[in-house]
Amino acid sequence: MKLRTRIALAYVALVAIALISLAVYLSRSEQDRLRERVEGDMTDEARLVALVVGPLLAEGAPAAEVDAAAKRLGQEIEGGVTVVSSDGRAVADSVVPPASLGDLSQRPEVARALAGEVGKGSGFSQSLRTDATYIAVPIVSGQDSVGVARVARPSSQLSTSLGDIALTLLVACLVAGGAAVVVALVIAGAMTRPLGRLARAARRLAGGQLGERVSSSATAEVADLADAFNAMAASLQGTISRLAEERQKLESLLASSADAVVAVDREGLITFTNAAAEAVFRTSRTEAVGKPFLHVVRDHELNELASRCVKLAERGLRVIAYGPEQRWLQASAVPIEGGGDWAGLIILHDLSEVRRLDTVRRDFITNVSHELRTPLAGIKASAETLKEGALHDPEAAAEFVRHIENETDRLAQMVEELLELSRIESGAAPLRMGVVTVGPLIERCVQRFAPQAERAGLHLSAEPIEDEGLAVQGDDDRLGQALANLLHNAIKFTPAGGQITVSAVAHNGEVAIAVRDTGIGIAAGDRSRVFERFYKAADARGRPGSGLGLAIVKHIVQAHGGRATVESQPGQGSTFTVLLPRAR
Ligand SMILES: Nc1ncnc2c1ncn2[C@@H]1O[C@H](COP(=O)(O)OP(=O)(O)OP(=O)(O)O)[C@@H](O)[C@H]1O
Ligand SMILES: [Mg+2]
Repeated sequence: MKLRTRIALAYVALVAIALISLAVYLSRSEQDRLRERVEGDMTDEARLVALVVGPLLAEGAPAAEVDAAAKRLGQEIEGGVTVVSSDGRAVADSVVPPASLGDLSQRPEVARALAGEVGKGSGFSQSLRTDATYIAVPIVSGQDSVGVARVARPSSQLSTSLGDIALTLLVACLVAGGAAVVVALVIAGAMTRPLGRLARAARRLAGGQLGERVSSSATAEVADLADAFNAMAASLQGTISRLAEERQKLESLLASSADAVVAVDREGLITFTNAAAEAVFRTSRTEAVGKPFLHVVRDHELNELASRCVKLAERGLRVIAYGPEQRWLQASAVPIEGGGDWAGLIILHDLSEVRRLDTVRRDFITNVSHELRTPLAGIKASAETLKEGALHDPEAAAEFVRHIENETDRLAQMVEELLELSRIESGAAPLRMGVVTVGPLIERCVQRFAPQAERAGLHLSAEPIEDEGLAVQGDDDRLGQALANLLHNAIKFTPAGGQITVSAVAHNGEVAIAVRDTGIGIAAGDRSRVFERFYKAADARGRPGSGLGLAIVKHIVQAHGGRATVESQPGQGSTFTVLLPRAR
């Protein structure tokens, strides 16, 4: 039951009890008062009758005269009047002949009056033909009682009056009761309204409207409650915003991590992924969250690590080869105690780059040793031949010395290139930056290589550039060197009769300088590696060259903030492109 109804009902019950007791008390006392008044009136009337009839009876007047007086008096007082003689016989009556009444001495009111007191009685009245109330008084003449005067009134007269009083009281009670109900509802409403407001505010707060507050109330207790509610809401808001802040910090930390991070709950369902994890597992957060870990990572080793972590609260560390590319990942699993739906954290660290650098370093050492061994072996062989007698043959001696000289030149060039490369890489040879106009740069290079190309039976040309002033930001000498290395390769790897074209176009704030040849081309497997130090494709192994030219190109271009790419079709030709930022 509602508090408001309850208060109103209690109030109404209280008022009803008060009204009913009041009504009962009032009707009782009113009834008594009325009866006394009527009986008093009747006694007065009976005394009056006695006063009028007394002298007639004392004189011994004829019965007809007494009867006539009784009839007259009966009309006056609007009730029945009976005169009884001292022996109890009716001698006169206002309505019926007295003889028909007979002896009345046994009637209680008459008996009392005969004894000298005021008598009271009730019963069926012959004269009034209804239930009546009687009052009888003695008729006294001098010291003697000469008879009794009796007055009768219908009882219904009294009960009608009593009924009227009761009706009035009932109406009064109903009106007062109705008013009480209205007042009770208003008061109860005023008392419970602030509570309703509080309840609504609490519900809104629970629904997430943390700024919710209630205004103070007039009632001290409710005002206290409102203050307590506001204090609670404020502290809740503070706590939640602090928690949200912490969560924000944590999420941005995880989001920016280069390591892949995945959180799983106790059932092994994913509850969080960061950007790195989404990249590794080729998924998105909306796709992954809520899915079983195994469905997303598709790796049983990883899944086992994760489930041991959440089921047995066991830390784990493992290196796995992941996915079709067999990427090396170091996976660690950390259980989280009391982390809610983050029961465990799986962190994946990509080891591929570390391993690749390792391989490159190892390859480099092998390659350097290998590249040094060939010319050194040549020099040693020539020196031995000379020692064993060729020295004395001037013609042969000259041949071997030339051979030694060539091999030494080759060694010197290689050392020079290596030094150059490490200078560029380490930044020890700073770039002399300036605006380099692309047209003249290409023109210079083409002219320089024209005699070599001609000797090799190749056609070398530069395509006209659309924008004559096209320029890049860079070091003129270094860019010339990069272009020279590309042209050198093109000549070396293109059979006689081929065509070499140099072109330049501007695109999206970049300038692309391309060297295109119709040479032997590069197999797909080699294409990604030709820019590595010492790398030579299988077709090039027999040809001179140490495999450093393109590595130098790559580093020069990178030092300029650009990049170098290659496209090639084995047997058809290759195009090396250098992309550099355009000068403004
Ligand atoms: N234009 C080209 N056509 C075909 N293959 C090429 C071309 N340019 C480079 N390559 C391949 O790339 C490899 C690496 O080239 P790079 O210029 O680095 O070395 P190199 O020319 O062999 O030696 P170096 O330039 O040090 O004398 C070459 O050995 C060759 O296999
Ligand atoms: Mg080369």
